[in-house]
Amino acid sequence: MQSIAERLPDIRHVGQALERKIRDHSAKAGVIGLGYVGLPLVLEIAKAGFQVTGIDIDRAKVDSVNAGVSHIPDVPSKTLLSLVKRRKIKATQSLAVIENLDTISICVPTPLRKTKDPDLSYIIAAVAAVHNHLRPGQLIVLESTTYPGTTREVVLPILEKSGLRAGKDFFLAFSPERIDPGNRHYNTRNIPKVIGGMTPQCTDLATLLYSQFVDKIVPVSSPEHAEMVKLLENTFRSVNIALVNEMALMCHKFGINVWEVIEAAKTKPFGFMPFYPGPGLGGHCIPVDPYYLAWKAKMNGL
Ligand SMILES: NC(=O)c1ccc[n+]([C@@H]2O[C@H](COP(=O)([O-])OP(=O)(O)OC[C@H]3O[C@@H](n4cnc5c(N)ncnc54)[C@H](O)[C@@H]3O)[C@@H](O)[C@H]2O)c1
Repeated sequence: MQSIAERLPDIRHVGQALERKIRDHSAKAGVIGLGYVGLPLVLEIAKAGFQVTGIDIDRAKVDSVNAGVSHIPDVPSKTLLSLVKRRKIKATQSLAVIENLDTISICVPTPLRKTKDPDLSYIIAAVAAVHNHLRPGQLIVLESTTYPGTTREVVLPILEKSGLRAGKDFFLAFSPERIDPGNRHYNTRNIPKVIGGMTPQCTDLATLLYSQFVDKIVPVSSPEHAEMVKLLENTFRSVNIALVNEMALMCHKFGINVWEVIEAAKTKPFGFMPFYPGPGLGGHCIPVDPYYLAWKAKMNGL
């Protein structure tokens, strides 16, 4: 099997033009959703030398980005302002700009309905906007956390209503965002990025784009694999935080100091990872994402 590097020079047709633009950083990048995930992404793409347009329905966020004032703690206003002044970053509420973009990363919320079923309405609205302005040669990457099958079963049919075909006329991939807001060591640039495209060429082009501003890319064989990676990671955290909280209750009952137990347990060099008891579940995704997995499991009779 050819490596990605060997396959890339063979990318033909519209893919070749996009590949060239990504390589020489003349590709016009866009990010839909300027929140905890989207704004740090905008910053990294711009720092790599691309022109980036951030699109958000929230006027206040658009105005603050254009004023160089960050609303996300991990994004320093000083850096944002300097990139806005150099015209590397601009924000807009106008969806019509999508037509001028070469790459579009979608970072919109994926909450739960009252019934705890997945609420894909933000993804569907954002993808419908992309569909309205889709043109050949564009690369679309969904980053929002979701259940396996979303890219193929929900996103792809909306985009292909245009008559254009993924992997032939435009390129489509899923790449889960793994950012940990407030983490001093790990950020958009140095957290490895998992990418699964609809076709090998989709994976290659998304890999090429993200490798311009993320240190390590982990390509996987399909969007479903990439979608499942994120749900495994966050369900793993949810289960282990629940476990350690139960341990804390038990230790309290037994008169044992749970912190001392964890400190000693974590000296085991394999097969153990420390989690710590607390009032929260560690971010707003952790209590939500396992329901996406549970919903998909139920849909499959599990
Ligand atoms: N926050 C995290 O720590 C984190 C980490 C990893 C993954 N994620 C996932 O990333 C996704 C985004 O999360 P977030 O925390 O950045 O959300 P957020 O609420 O901070 O930001 C989302 C932004 O999208 C905008 N938006 C919604 N619909 C839109 C549309 N149709 N067009 C344009 N803009 C639109 C909102 O106005 C908002 O500014 C979610 O799926 C989340 O689960 C979040």
